[in-house]
Amino acid sequence: MPKVLAIANQKGGVGKTTTALSLGCGLSILGKKVLVLDLDAHACGTVHLGFFPGTYKTSALDIFLPNSEKQQDSLIYKKETLRFDFVPAHIKLAEVEGNLKGSPGRGWLLKKWLLRYAKDYDFVVLDCPPHTGVILLNALAAADLVIVPVQTDFLALHGLKLIFDTFRLLKIALKRNVNFKILATMYDIRTKASRRVFNLLRKKLGDKLFSTVISIDTNFREASSEGKTIFEYAPKSRGAFQYLQLAKEILRQ
Ligand SMILES: Nc1ncnc2c1ncn2[C@@H]1O[C@H](COP(=O)(O)OP(=O)(O)O)[C@@H](O)[C@H]1O
Ligand SMILES: [Mg+2]
Repeated sequence: MPKVLAIANQKGGVGKTTTALSLGCGLSILGKKVLVLDLDAHACGTVHLGFFPGTYKTSALDIFLPNSEKQQDSLIYKKETLRFDFVPAHIKLAEVEGNLKGSPGRGWLLKKWLLRYAKDYDFVVLDCPPHTGVILLNALAAADLVIVPVQTDFLALHGLKLIFDTFRLLKIALKRNVNFKILATMYDIRTKASRRVFNLLRKKLGDKLFSTVISIDTNFREASSEGKTIFEYAPKSRGAFQYLQLAKEILRQ
């Protein structure tokens, strides 16, 4: 079975999507077979990779429609230009919550789908939505490791409380601890605030913080506007190097 990595933080704009795509790519460069799923109705990762709404028929939405007649294995797309396989998001993922209300086993739909259709992958990477709800819970329940990107500024620290509250709730529901690790992102060595937050994270979190730190790098924004990952857009950039380091750190564990 693949190792499932959920990239989650209830705060937006912290680097979840960037991490999901770049880490997926990094792991595949290291020879792993990778499947990335976009579970966020905003579909940023999907559009980033050049899948535009209306141009694909099946999506992650079908995982959460248990009676979907669509071929469940056809949710996975392969592109020659893409190093990993991909399941795109759908704007209606935002409505799943209401549709599944009260339905038994609704927290395990993703896990069941992965058991059936993702057996041949080494890694599955889940780009999670920023709000608490049935999709995030499905992702956390299916995850072997939850990676929480945290922007190295003070407001980001405040947002961390939310995700820890979610982990606590989940622990009760799943009757097991959530295995998580924090990833410092958008680190700017020139600013005092960034350095202070990073030192604080290291002191408080110890080995729950990845040794790899992702620096601020304008190449990420440029890469997404060109529909590429950092590895295609700027393979020699610091950003590409650091996400490859992160992939190596995960393989070592
Ligand atoms: N390390 C980084 N340095 C500079 N910009 C970044 C970095 N990581 C992400 N970004 C940019 O910040 C924005 C938000 O990142 P994104 O990954 O979409 O966050 P989220 O998925 O958590 O909302 C995007 O425009 C992205 O290109
Ligand atoms: Mg995102």
